[in-house]
Amino acid sequence: MDISSRDQQVIWHPYTQAQLSGAPIAIVKGQGVYLFDQTGNKYIDAVSSWWVNLHGHSHPDIARRVFEQLQTLEHVIFAGFTHQPAVDLAERLLTILPSRQSRIFYSDNGSTATEVAVKMALQYWRNKGIRKNKIIAFEHAYHGDTFGAMSVSARSGFTDAFADLLFDVIHIPLPGRGEEAQTVNELQRHISENQDTIAALIFEPLILGAGGMLMYEAKILDQLMGICSENSILTIADEVMTGFGRTGKNFACGYLARQPDMVCMSKGITGGTMAFGATSCTDEIYSAFLSDDRSKTFFHGHSYTANPVACAAALASFDLLVADECRQNISRISARHKEFITRNHEIKLFRNLRCTGTILAMEVETDEKSSYFHSLSTRLYAFFLNKGIILRPLGNTLYVMPPYCITNEELGLVYSAIESLPEELHLV
Ligand SMILES: Cc1ncc(COP(=O)(O)O)c(C=O)c1O
Repeated sequence: MDISSRDQQVIWHPYTQAQLSGAPIAIVKGQGVYLFDQTGNKYIDAVSSWWVNLHGHSHPDIARRVFEQLQTLEHVIFAGFTHQPAVDLAERLLTILPSRQSRIFYSDNGSTATEVAVKMALQYWRNKGIRKNKIIAFEHAYHGDTFGAMSVSARSGFTDAFADLLFDVIHIPLPGRGEEAQTVNELQRHISENQDTIAALIFEPLILGAGGMLMYEAKILDQLMGICSENSILTIADEVMTGFGRTGKNFACGYLARQPDMVCMSKGITGGTMAFGATSCTDEIYSAFLSDDRSKTFFHGHSYTANPVACAAALASFDLLVADECRQNISRISARHKEFITRNHEIKLFRNLRCTGTILAMEVETDEKSSYFHSLSTRLYAFFLNKGIILRPLGNTLYVMPPYCITNEELGLVYSAIESLPEELHLV
């Protein structure tokens, strides 16, 4: 039996309705922007394997440093012990993180990075003896799949099965174009109705990812953060998707005048090599957990906290990220996305063409209402796969988020495939 058939006997895949999906494609090799399957087909990974890959697959620098680390120290308990890769990485992250961040708490994926931030925010107030236990988040937000992360995410098809058990969160509308005033008003209304009980605002800065690649302006986020600051509400930037260059800057918060109290990181942190997460916070937050009273400890930790091999991968990826070549690639991809938008902005099938940094998105417009469960989704996915391109639309929202090593020629193949959609799928 081949790998795909064996898989179907024993494996349960994420975000996949097995009864409606075909056999998974068995990938045997990755190199640069390409993934190769067991029958010899190759695919351009235009979604960076769920937004994690920055520098291409099987990058030799990352592989070498992971190998070296594995031969030196593969893992050690991170309570009472430390190691150089963890310290080096924390020091380096702090050089590119928004100002005021001063401590790094490690975990192992994006959901735990946000879960940690929410728990830190709630316990911060408790440790200070102030009763604040409400969280504000955006409608359409996605912060992960654990219960806390689901709670602060939008209520949607992803969370329906658990709705009764999620804690209450105040959701404010996403500031779309022209609707900024409504978002500001809603935030102010909730603050005055919940007099001094709001602990934090959590947000995906500039782009809401899984909610549909919804983009909004830095200016309005600055305004919302200003209101939070005036009302002693902590701000948590979930940079799990936007971090490490995706938006053109190291962090999307780099576009802001104000800076958050906490930042959540994962995905690109290891260049897409290993499961890893981190949450940074200000000195003020960290200090609120220092006490002779042990009950003020942050009782959170994962077995693989600060895994040295993951830290080594993150350090190798960091070196590649800050190199000139990578900066130039990020600017080049952003410029090419803008050209794509200029060229196609009159195509009726593509609604709301938009890009921020290396992320390009659009809705493929039909009579059906836009949604994650849009019937076009599977057709679009199969269409691109047939052309050797992995684009995994969110319903009818098509987006391109490639590894930074993608060449202009490879980007051209992705763009041409999108541009051929109207005719080839008979959607005009
Ligand atoms: C903004 C954001 N936060 C959190 C997560 C959860 O990350 P993970 O899938 O690693 O748990 C995601 C994943 O897509 C994300 O986009």
